[in-house]
Amino acid sequence: MNVLVLGSGGREHALSHKISQSNRCEKLFIAPGNAGTASLGENVNLNIEDAIEVGAFVKANAIGIVVIGPEAPLVSGLHDGLKADPSLSDLVVVGPRQAAAELEGSKDFAKKFMIRHNIPTAAYETFTKDTLEQGQAFLETLDPPYVLKADGLAAGKGVLIIEDLQEAKDELKNMLIDAKFGDASTRVVIEEFLSGIEFSIFALADGHGGYALLPEAKDYKRIGEGDTGLNTGGMGAISPVPFFDDALRNRTIQEIIEPTIKGLVKDNLPYQGFVFFGLINTDRGPKVIEYNVRMGDPETEVVIPRIQTDIIDLFIAMDNGTIDQIKVDVNPQTAATVMAVSGGYPGSYEKGKVIDGLRDFEQTTVYHAGTKLQDKVITSGGRVMAFTSFGVDKEDALSKSYAALKEVSFEGMNYRKDIGFDL
Ligand code: AMP
Ligand code: GLY
Repeated sequence: MNVLVLGSGGREHALSHKISQSNRCEKLFIAPGNAGTASLGENVNLNIEDAIEVGAFVKANAIGIVVIGPEAPLVSGLHDGLKADPSLSDLVVVGPRQAAAELEGSKDFAKKFMIRHNIPTAAYETFTKDTLEQGQAFLETLDPPYVLKADGLAAGKGVLIIEDLQEAKDELKNMLIDAKFGDASTRVVIEEFLSGIEFSIFALADGHGGYALLPEAKDYKRIGEGDTGLNTGGMGAISPVPFFDDALRNRTIQEIIEPTIKGLVKDNLPYQGFVFFGLINTDRGPKVIEYNVRMGDPETEVVIPRIQTDIIDLFIAMDNGTIDQIKVDVNPQTAATVMAVSGGYPGSYEKGKVIDGLRDFEQTTVYHAGTKLQDKVITSGGRVMAFTSFGVDKEDALSKSYAALKEVSFEGMNYRKDIGFDL
């Protein structure tokens, strides 16, 4: 079977790596891919939001499975666009259709879904430019800090957490009237602040109420040590999460995962693909912070390597609606990943820096993200490479990743030295 992976990050490198290990994978294509994926298959230049272009490539290369990595093509309806071509009716597409991708595409849609299905989440209200004053009055009824979320996709930057009431009111105006996040902040969700420790759960849903629970992870989003400074796409991750014990697992399954999977079927939302539950463990139990309709990055770089079951078997079972009949084998060891980023990221940074010291490490896999092959491997993005290792515990795994990181360098390279510090 030929497989096409769409995307260019560490997530797509890790997925491609696992797919390439399957006996069932004949040819692997990655669009657009990066310097890392180039050694696993063929990188191809496709506009991954254009269903006609992707569909033509699928037909010309007898692709059996398309894995859609990032959210943008899911939210813009790539799956629907591919399936609109009758000759692609047998194509296996990993990733939901547009109607279901709204779980990530609109925070207001996700909130309404959770309320409708009794899924624990923060209390909220949604406002538009016509209800700015009501929004500001609503802020007065809440305790700080205030949580303001742009409704639409904002590349992980659309959430503001603000201590001061006046500043929150001003930011609400900036978002609604001055389009701080463009169209994404035409609507703004204001929600109750939840305190607790965050973690992420992943499932592969088959669209018929069946799902496979994948390993959980904890990611580290802030740029600075001790979880300080600006939010990033993610600076590192650990799996498994030690506090995700049987009691929390059972509660999460009963109160969040099952009602979500059943809710999708009840609401007629066609969902075959990865479901990412961004959760927070509060003193009143786990609650949903957000849904994503794809795998997380860098969570994928610890979750997918732990899966020992053939990933193509999982995708086929997903497509057949029989995923709950498959037992997912998981490596019980701890996986840790540390992301090397460009100097200045998540603010502005330079690209095109030569990366020195890359080699096949014995105990560490380097998943490329923002890299490009131009005679040498050079940087081409903010998040450059994720260093994943296994160990008997997180200290053991992390020590291997940090040892490999010490051998690799590029001008301005930065990484967090405290991944896992709070576990
Ligand atoms: P999101 O893009 O929805 O994942 O939000 C980004 C980050 O903001 C989350 O990872 C949380 O750390 C934080 N956050 C979002 N919503 C809340 C909330 N209701 N209470 C506390 N923190 C939140
Ligand atoms: N690491 C968070 C995300 O992928 O959204």
